[in-house]
Amino acid sequence: MALLDVADVTVRFGGVTAVDGASISAEQSRITGLIGPNGAGKTTLFNVITGLQPPTAGTVRLGGRNLARWPPSRRARAGMGRTFQRLEAFGSLTVRENVLVAREIHQGVKGLLRGSGSRVDELLERVGISGYAAHRADAVPTGVARLLEMARVLAIDPRLLLLDEPSSGLDESETAAFGALLRELAAEDRTILLVEHDMDLVMSVCDVIHVLEFGRIIASGTPEEIRADTRVQEAYLGAEPASATGGQP
Ligand SMILES: Nc1ncnc2c1ncn2[C@@H]1O[C@H](COP(=O)(O)OP(=O)(O)OP(=O)(O)O)[C@@H](O)[C@H]1O
Ligand SMILES: [Mg+2]
Repeated sequence: MALLDVADVTVRFGGVTAVDGASISAEQSRITGLIGPNGAGKTTLFNVITGLQPPTAGTVRLGGRNLARWPPSRRARAGMGRTFQRLEAFGSLTVRENVLVAREIHQGVKGLLRGSGSRVDELLERVGISGYAAHRADAVPTGVARLLEMARVLAIDPRLLLLDEPSSGLDESETAAFGALLRELAAEDRTILLVEHDMDLVMSVCDVIHVLEFGRIIASGTPEEIRADTRVQEAYLGAEPASATGGQP
């Protein structure tokens, strides 16, 4: 059984159908990709999974339990961690303080008693931004800010990670290191659902990929199967995706 199971989810905003009967799953300890052109409904689907957006129809299950009545906070406590496409760090805090805050919110009083500092430094080291620990979060390059998002989500020790375009703004060597980090996290039994426009990264790290187009899943399979799928080539891979260069608006 998959750890995460999303079945027949539809989301309508007035006349716009952002997600249209989409079903995807994410297996335990695997990296599952979710790709598709701009506006396909990827972020909306993440919002449904994390409880920020109630679906018009359909169900989300985690470990077999229907999450319909679970608010985002309960999903987070159950081990769901998420990064945002729009960067969400506290700009006036340092990089290190941002991770410390995430960790202390997660641990509550326990965290204050035990002290989270050394663990926070390990996390900064792990994602590769120790050198920026004392910099204000609003004064670091976009790539560093992305990696800070990653450290912040890892601070809550999630078993399911939902990553929304985590590599946008990373340079080539940062992206390679990031891909290796994702593989390590999966080897530690974490389950990853990855929305990403960088096809090289997606094809190299994912075990399974779902392709969304106009809110519908048009293909699901291994990277090889997705690459060979003519519908996918027409819908997506043939065309140059608008944000493939990783530029921020
Ligand atoms: N709150 C909202 N109200 C109305 N329409 C919305 C809302 N959120 C998203 N949409 C629309 O739903 C569709 C899907 O948007 P979504 O952000 O989920 O796409 P995406 O696949 O994440 O795109 P991108 O790759 O550009 O991030 C788009 O047409 C978008 O304009
Ligand atoms: Mg999006």
